[in-house]
Amino acid sequence: MTRKIHIFDTTLRDGEQSPGASMNADEKVVLARQLLRLGVDVIEAGFPISSPGDFQSVQRVCQEVGDAAVVCALTRAVPRDIEVAAEALAKAAAPRIHTGLGVSPSHLRDKLQLSEQAAIDAAVAAVKCARSYVGDVQFYAEDAGRADLDFLVRILEAVIAAGANIVNIPETTGYSLPEDFGWRIKTLRERVRGIEDVMVAVHCHNDLGLATALTLAGIKNGATQVECTLNGLGERAGNTAMEEVVMALRLHGEALDAHTTIDAREFTRASHLVSSITGIKVQPNKAIVGANAFAHSSGIHQDGVMKSRATYEIIDPASVGADGSGMVLTARSGHAALKNRLEQLGFPLDAETFEKVYGRFLAIADRKKEVYDEDLEALMAEYDRNIDALWTLKTLQVSCGVPLVATATVVLVDAQGVEHLANATGTGPIDASYKAVSEIVQVDNDLKEFVVQAITRGIDALGEVTVRVEDAAGTVFSGRGADGDIIVSSTKAYLNALNRMLRVK
Ligand code: KIV
Ligand code: ZN
Repeated sequence: MTRKIHIFDTTLRDGEQSPGASMNADEKVVLARQLLRLGVDVIEAGFPISSPGDFQSVQRVCQEVGDAAVVCALTRAVPRDIEVAAEALAKAAAPRIHTGLGVSPSHLRDKLQLSEQAAIDAAVAAVKCARSYVGDVQFYAEDAGRADLDFLVRILEAVIAAGANIVNIPETTGYSLPEDFGWRIKTLRERVRGIEDVMVAVHCHNDLGLATALTLAGIKNGATQVECTLNGLGERAGNTAMEEVVMALRLHGEALDAHTTIDAREFTRASHLVSSITGIKVQPNKAIVGANAFAHSSGIHQDGVMKSRATYEIIDPASVGADGSGMVLTARSGHAALKNRLEQLGFPLDAETFEKVYGRFLAIADRKKEVYDEDLEALMAEYDRNIDALWTLKTLQVSCGVPLVATATVVLVDAQGVEHLANATGTGPIDASYKAVSEIVQVDNDLKEFVVQAITRGIDALGEVTVRVEDAAGTVFSGRGADGDIIVSSTKAYLNALNRMLRVK
């Protein structure tokens, strides 16, 4: 039997640090459920000291996860951070505190202004403090890839002696070549006293497009926990994509003496869910989960695949849930079929919620005739977006064309159920609708990005719009909306972004 590699998912923490990817507590809970379906070993749920919202999200994820996975919270090596993280994790069946600090010369000198000894003292104090709250403490040596090796050995020895049971060696800036990073992990395993008694983790960023290669090099040289995100979401160029590492181990597990216990059939759905919640699309040629990952375009390739799939496919699409085998529903499918399909897709609903969703399903089915899994996922995402929304769209009427001036009349309903109406003109129907919405909602914002795309096939496909809106302080919020009418999707997406902005305020 090969070594089990523990999958530590940080989509809810590092992934959320992608610009515009912030998630509220409801969204984190939905994603946590999907992480459990994937079977991850550890969920890093957030950075509780960073905001009251994140604190609450960690608490909610703990309740949702129960004893199905370890729930981890991030801290700096600061006592107050650790105390707050412990409070947020109080209800977790298996809590873990992830504490640490920067260890490279540039982090010590420029960011922390700490001598090496002061950094060791702070790290040891942080680990001891964390151990006073929980038994499971992971230490991260931020920017370990560029740290002085002798110093890295000393600080890791000190935190292990202080009680850390996992040491995380991040390649924070994605700088190293995989071979060098692998050598670093091997050397640490040879030189750090006590390291044989703890788990070694790697956490690699993708600044040179090497995150997966760095992670595999870490595994090859003894790491048994890998930190990753769905779709490779994360700071800057992102983190190691879970789907890539897991599938690489499926194909090369013997050579690397490693396996995971992830249910890879959940990857496609998980990827859609992350996109839907964050508004960040996956590039079509992304490995494993991109729309074209299993598409064969040229005649030569198509001919090869028709003769034998193995000519150009190293992975069976069904093994990552990309076989498109989903059932197609119609308006005549009935309650039981919809309920069953939603449950299979991971959306068990109570009777009252189901009735509301069924009404919406019928409206889509009447218009579209055939309703695909992607439509149902969009419908459920739309439903989730409307829960607790401060403003919801009641009516939208536009007139536009040549040579008309585009005008929009919008009715929004506020959290108290009061209706507000506004009219506006604009350069087109979307501009007019956005101006009418802005007139009602009255929050300073700047539209930075607007993307529209079809969710499924055909002229009657649901159109999904993603927007990114910046507030006066420069924080970016994404919003999404889906509907058969793209002016309606666009308005819902804008409203969703403004709702998120207002919730943070
Ligand atoms: O990239 C990094 O080093 C991190 C640490 C906080 C683990 O995200
Ligand atoms: Zn990171």
